[in-house]
Amino acid sequence: MRVRFAAAMMLAVLSSGAAAQDSVTVTVDAGAAGPVIDRNIFGQFAEHLGTGIYNGVWVGEDSKIPNTRGIRTDVVEALRAIKVPNVRWPGGCFADEYHWRDGIGDPATRTKRRNASWAGRIETNAFGTHEYFDFLGQIGAKPFISVNVGSGTVQEAADWMEYITAEGTTLADERAANGRKEPWGVDFLGIGNEMWGCGGPLTGDEYVRELKQYINFTTNYHPTVKPTVIAVGPDGGGFAEYTEAVMKGWSQRDWTWDIQGLSLHRYTRGVWPPRIKATGFGAEEYAQVIDETLGMDDFIRTNAAIMDKYDPEKSVGIYVDEWGTWYEGDAGTLYQQNSQRDAVLAALNFNIFAKHAERVRGANIAQMVNVLQAMILTDDARMILTPTYHAFHMYVPFQDATRLGVTLDAQDYRQGEYEMPRFDAIAARGKDGALYVAVVNIDPTREATVNLRLKSGRLAKVSAETLDAPAMNSINTFERPETVKPRAVAPTVRGGAATLAVKPASVTVFRIAE
Ligand code: AHR
Repeated sequence: MRVRFAAAMMLAVLSSGAAAQDSVTVTVDAGAAGPVIDRNIFGQFAEHLGTGIYNGVWVGEDSKIPNTRGIRTDVVEALRAIKVPNVRWPGGCFADEYHWRDGIGDPATRTKRRNASWAGRIETNAFGTHEYFDFLGQIGAKPFISVNVGSGTVQEAADWMEYITAEGTTLADERAANGRKEPWGVDFLGIGNEMWGCGGPLTGDEYVRELKQYINFTTNYHPTVKPTVIAVGPDGGGFAEYTEAVMKGWSQRDWTWDIQGLSLHRYTRGVWPPRIKATGFGAEEYAQVIDETLGMDDFIRTNAAIMDKYDPEKSVGIYVDEWGTWYEGDAGTLYQQNSQRDAVLAALNFNIFAKHAERVRGANIAQMVNVLQAMILTDDARMILTPTYHAFHMYVPFQDATRLGVTLDAQDYRQGEYEMPRFDAIAARGKDGALYVAVVNIDPTREATVNLRLKSGRLAKVSAETLDAPAMNSINTFERPETVKPRAVAPTVRGGAATLAVKPASVTVFRIAE
């Protein structure tokens, strides 16, 4: 939150005494069980954009880069380790120019087009439906397909769903002839993307008309897997009327259509076009980015309040299916570096999603490889894991965990005109029965001691993993791939509570075995 100059001066004076407090007490209420933190909030997004798919995931069978049926082995192995729940594909803006027939059949004769959304690069369609499902199988993730509403037709989307999910039809036979006899299930189905912008432009009410028809006719033939249908909603920069229009339309639905999700997009990028630097930034830019990130909470709250009017039972979930940092860089590839700051803000976003788990059932970071806030960067045969990847890895125990109550004594972090909480935390009971507590020390200048305790009962066995870095702007490079990397740390347990010193701008996940 920005504070006015005079107020900031006053707060600085008032805070000079508090600055000495370099410990935080985090109290877990294991008896206050909340909702399940849906594993799908750790979803990924992979668009045909820059080297996100080509070179990042797909290298082709003849590549010297080790691969399985054309898909990079190193990338698959890394993604398996973070237990990716789903991958949203083929876009983004690209989804509304994608024609699925271009990407099936003999690769040698697939249609080549220009990728109009992203710098007009040649799209070979070497990576299409079969390759996508093969990739998902290799990493163990579920499909999230966004169909083309902008430049496609209801019939085209209906045919794609039939091709993927049906048995015994001509389209199913075509799928079998292309190498896949069994139908695939589609777990998540997005009806268009950003229909107020690159996917349209349509007003909210115009979109609702399209939405109804697409849902009515885009039949899923799979016997057991029924998709969560996700409608387009607003983004952080505007188009708030979409939430109202879609939810109002939904409240008047009939037997022909229904939705289970509303998409929200929100990037951390400052002004447009983005001017924030991915690397080499200072304290002010660190604070600016974290401050903007924390606005995700308000964004979800505002949209959830509109949804509550029409859907107090919370039948429709929020899917933040595009989020992350968008820094200054090449507008055609959106390739950017990733620092410790990105790991901190990834953890803060996870915490926000978990705190809204009653409504937020999914989220997809933009994007998986080589694009925006990526997990993985590749350079020909080389691959590195980013600080954001490590944050995802550390939060794996929170997938489908049950949220618990947690309190911490409030303290502020101030930098120039920015003021925000110094710490953030969530707690949950993991599927393995242990308690997990994630603590973020937002302040990039001050180390702190975390005093971890239970509201009732005593801690006995506590372990922890922490992600810190030499500096808030530390990055991993192909030459130095392990500058930022998590490490196991040993909290001191005494008198039924645990203490651990955590570094500035760090993320720590505690595991409490009961
Ligand atoms: O992730 C990059 C782009 O951002 C997506 O294609 C679009 O949906 C959003 O505006």
